[in-house]
Amino acid sequence: MPVSRFSISLEDELLKALDLFVTENNFPNRSQAMRHLIEKNIVEKKWLCNNIVAGAVVMIYNHHTKEILAKLNRIQHDYFEVILSSLHFHLNHDMCLEIIALKGKAKILTELSDKLIAIKGIKHGKLIMSKTD
Ligand code: NI
Repeated sequence: MPVSRFSISLEDELLKALDLFVTENNFPNRSQAMRHLIEKNIVEKKWLCNNIVAGAVVMIYNHHTKEILAKLNRIQHDYFEVILSSLHFHLNHDMCLEIIALKGKAKILTELSDKLIAIKGIKHGKLIMSKTD
């Protein structure tokens, strides 16, 4: 991806805060830290909008975790209107990979994904979304 350079003017106090943020979070430099902050604050906010998007939640979990399947099922039924399809793969005796394809308002998809990923026992969970036009 092409990278553009630009300069920003910051008050000393704010620059100090940025440098502290860089050190505390082990960013290699200010640019990386700024990239992270911009993505968190601008890109993710777009995910809370009413635009119709398509996406998928990918989850890895241990199906032996107490109540996990019932919880996954209940939440998905609450959001049946945005769920296109789901795939479940048994990876081994314990672990499952589940992919849920979605289409709907970005904020609804984000809400659903947050609920799924927060379930106790989900080892890894991620939502990807893209505009459909
Ligand atoms: Ni399974």
